[in-house]
Amino acid sequence: MFNPDKLLLENKAWSQNVVSRDPDFFVNLAKEQNPKFLWIGCSDSRVPAETVVNAKPGEIFVHRNIANQVINTDFNCLSVLQYAIQVLQVKHIIVCGHYGCGGIKAALEKQQTGLVITNKWLMHIKDIYRLYQDELSILPSDKMLNRLIELNIMEQVYRLAHTSIVQSAWKRGHKTTLHGWVYGLDDGLLTELIKLDETSPINKIYQYTD
Ligand code: CO
Repeated sequence: MFNPDKLLLENKAWSQNVVSRDPDFFVNLAKEQNPKFLWIGCSDSRVPAETVVNAKPGEIFVHRNIANQVINTDFNCLSVLQYAIQVLQVKHIIVCGHYGCGGIKAALEKQQTGLVITNKWLMHIKDIYRLYQDELSILPSDKMLNRLIELNIMEQVYRLAHTSIVQSAWKRGHKTTLHGWVYGLDDGLLTELIKLDETSPINKIYQYTD
């Protein structure tokens, strides 16, 4: 599928197919969105959010970036998070990474001089490697990569829990559960690595004063 015209044709066929099964599908969906999940995933083309969980349009609010990161200075991810919680009132936030992640692989190597901006994005993953260096450096390289992929997912879930957006939602009584999932490229399966909710302990230095 190298021709974008093919995408437009596929879109027409898809739309007709959906309408043939449910004539009011788009009419109803156009009125409002009411997704129950926020998905923060990797941009990798092999891990399309809706496809791997067999979801329909309207079911998942999606944000994707290289290596599924939640960066505290990234207004893109944070505004998605704020909107998902405060306006859409989602009850579950899923950080989904995947084995074989090229972003994590790249972060374990020297920085490519030409990729000035990408390097900055991957720097946060290098910091996670450094945080767990004792555990990671004794592993063979394939296991090290897989473990850093898992640690990165868990760190992003903690970063979510450290935001004022999530903590104030929990204080307001808005029950939002944070999930860290890893996807296997070779079997198409998701595994839960971590789950945090309003009862989970948060390191004091990340708590807010009121
Ligand atoms: Co990836």
